[in-house]
Amino acid sequence: MIHVFNRVSKIFAALFMVFMTVGGSFAQDGEALFKSNCARCHYASDKKLVGPGLAGVRSRWSSEDNLHAWIVNSTDYLKTGDSYATDLFEKFNKSVMPGFPNLKKEEVTAILDYIDKAGAAPAGGGSDSTAVAGGGAGAQGGDSGNTLMYVLIVVILILSVLIYALYKISVSLTELVKQREGDGSTDDRTFLDKAEDCFRASKKWAGENKAIVGVAIFVGLCFVLKLAWDGLMGIGVYQGYQPHQPIKFSHAKHAGELKIACEYCHTGVKESRHATIPSSSTCMNCHKAVSEGPLYGKNEIAKIYASIGFDPNKGAYIDNYNNQDKEQVLAVYEEWLGGDNDAFRAVEQYVQKPIDWVQIHKLPDHAYFNHAQHYRVGGVECQTCHGKVEEMEEVKQFAPLTMGWCINCHRETKVKFEENPYYDKLHDYLAERYKKGDQFTVARIGGLECGKCHY
Ligand code: HEC
Ligand code: HEC
Ligand code: HEC
Ligand code: HEC
Ligand code: HEC
Ligand code: HEC
Repeated sequence: MIHVFNRVSKIFAALFMVFMTVGGSFAQDGEALFKSNCARCHYASDKKLVGPGLAGVRSRWSSEDNLHAWIVNSTDYLKTGDSYATDLFEKFNKSVMPGFPNLKKEEVTAILDYIDKAGAAPAGGGSDSTAVAGGGAGAQGGDSGNTLMYVLIVVILILSVLIYALYKISVSLTELVKQREGDGSTDDRTFLDKAEDCFRASKKWAGENKAIVGVAIFVGLCFVLKLAWDGLMGIGVYQGYQPHQPIKFSHAKHAGELKIACEYCHTGVKESRHATIPSSSTCMNCHKAVSEGPLYGKNEIAKIYASIGFDPNKGAYIDNYNNQDKEQVLAVYEEWLGGDNDAFRAVEQYVQKPIDWVQIHKLPDHAYFNHAQHYRVGGVECQTCHGKVEEMEEVKQFAPLTMGWCINCHRETKVKFEENPYYDKLHDYLAERYKKGDQFTVARIGGLECGKCHY
């Protein structure tokens, strides 16, 4: 009896710990915020990345308020003339740290608390490797879903342990009673007998504990429903998918700040099904001249050079690049980057190789989508389907790309006939037919026909 109780209480203690850790992630998650916002430029240790290592940063600043102000908007903060910040800015070659106006005060505090914790960890410890990964920039949204899962799992675990424990107790008690009555020979019962006993005891127990059974069934059902729902909704859907790219290419910089038109790089949008990803030679139109960036210096742009075979030391392309001796070519980039350092090793893998951009948007093979039809003919802006790409440091999938999403838009969007060469001939005829004020939506030109979108 005591033995059983001991075991049960230990299990409960363990479960309680699990529950607390899971529950803890509901609180401001400094680590997740740090990883999604800061890790691409900062380590929490004292190692330098793009910006300074942040270990012990609180002690370097005159006040917590100033530190908050800096993090939320460093450009504005520099205008206060604070000498520490100005010096730091100079020291980092006037790299602008992006602002984080959407971070709330508690969130900044949570990040700083995390830095305190992680920065204090032994040097070279796990904190670095997790920080570098800087992973899950887009995973934040998924976290709450996961947490819900964990909580459900824990609740179910607790309930099953409870049921098990109570059952055990009841069995021990019955056995005790039997022994008292002098009927100690429990061992000669067959397996079936035992199973039957077990079943009867459970049934009896369940009958006496209807509330617990009810809750357990309810929770179990919720769990199964959630799994099924996620499964169904998740088929081929990767909304929010935001992988890291091999080169830290920023749309915010190129399409936003430098205002380069989308079609300049995505040349397919007007003519073809695919928007296409630009080749390195498109980048070279500008990067033959621009060999250093404000954030990453030579390091990222050098990857373009290594891929296409441009020697930045001489400012010229390397003849017959892909057949050159690899060692010789490597020496070119080693010289450019000033030795065998981390930056060189990151560039090395692109020598004589194309840049392996990670594909973000992908419809399943059985669906057909055409950019020219939507962008040139339909006049739908890129942003309607891809979000504000010109503000993204890293592109992420904005729309769900589900069939429901396509169909909804086709039901709601009117076809643009006016000043549309594609429809010039049709226009008068259709305008006549539908002038009674009918909405001429994409659905009516066949935008809901299965064969239009499926092979
Ligand atoms: C795109 C790169 C980048 C990102 C992202 C970034 N920073 Fe920075 N950070 C810098 C740079 C560069 C500096 C050095 C000062 C300068 O040049 O502006 C800096 C400086 C700092 C400093 C002052 C460090 C010191 O030693 O006093 C703090 C604090 C800081 N960043 C916090 C953060 C936090 C918190 C985040 C995430 C919310 C973040 N940074 C995101 C680039 C970045
Ligand atoms: C200077 C060239 C350049 C310009 C200008 C540019 N892009 Fe891109 N775009 C790229 C490169 C390179 C990639 C692949 C790497 C990445 O995903 O960041 C890309 C990726 C994308 C993707 C994701 C592709 C995928 O894998 O699914 C979308 C969507 C996109 N761009 C939309 C736009 C839009 C919209 C604009 C205009 C506001 C624009 N781009 C302007 C170069 C450019
Ligand atoms: C009506 C919605 C819609 C519009 C408008 C749209 N896209 Fe797309 N885009 C998609 C879909 C859907 C995919 C995935 C296509 C696939 O997998 O076949 C995609 C994929 C892409 C890709 C990656 C793969 C490829 O097709 O080459 C890029 C880059 C891209 N879009 C850029 C753009 C740009 C730039 C514009 C504006 C000029 C634009 N898109 C306008 C829906 C749209
Ligand atoms: C129309 C000109 C143009 C094209 C095309 C272009 N870039 Fe750039 N890029 C620039 C300029 C200008 C800068 C420097 C911006 C600055 O100093 O603020 C830059 C900066 C960069 C940086 C450095 C960012 C930093 O802060 O360190 C990278 C990396 C980069 N570009 C990658 C690419 C890639 C990859 C392509 C091709 C897909 C490309 N660029 C195409 C003009 C261009
Ligand atoms: C933001 C609105 C929007 C979304 C989202 C959208 N479309 Fe369209 N689509 C249009 C418009 C507008 C047209 C009409 C273009 C024209 O005038 O031919 C169109 C036309 C089409 C056509 C040609 C229809 C015909 O009968 O000629 C096909 C096929 C198509 N879309 C497929 C898709 C697929 C597949 C998706 C989802 C991956 C999708 N569309 C998502 C707006 C949209
Ligand atoms: C406007 C474009 C469009 C039209 C019209 C359309 N579909 Fe789809 N359909 C899609 C896209 C895009 C997907 C893939 C997205 C996904 O998997 O959610 C898809 C996926 C599917 C799937 C597979 C779902 C899966 O799990 O992969 C089936 C089955 C399907 N469609 C049947 C149909 C039938 C039947 C019709 C005609 C009544 C139809 N579709 C009309 C765009 C369309």
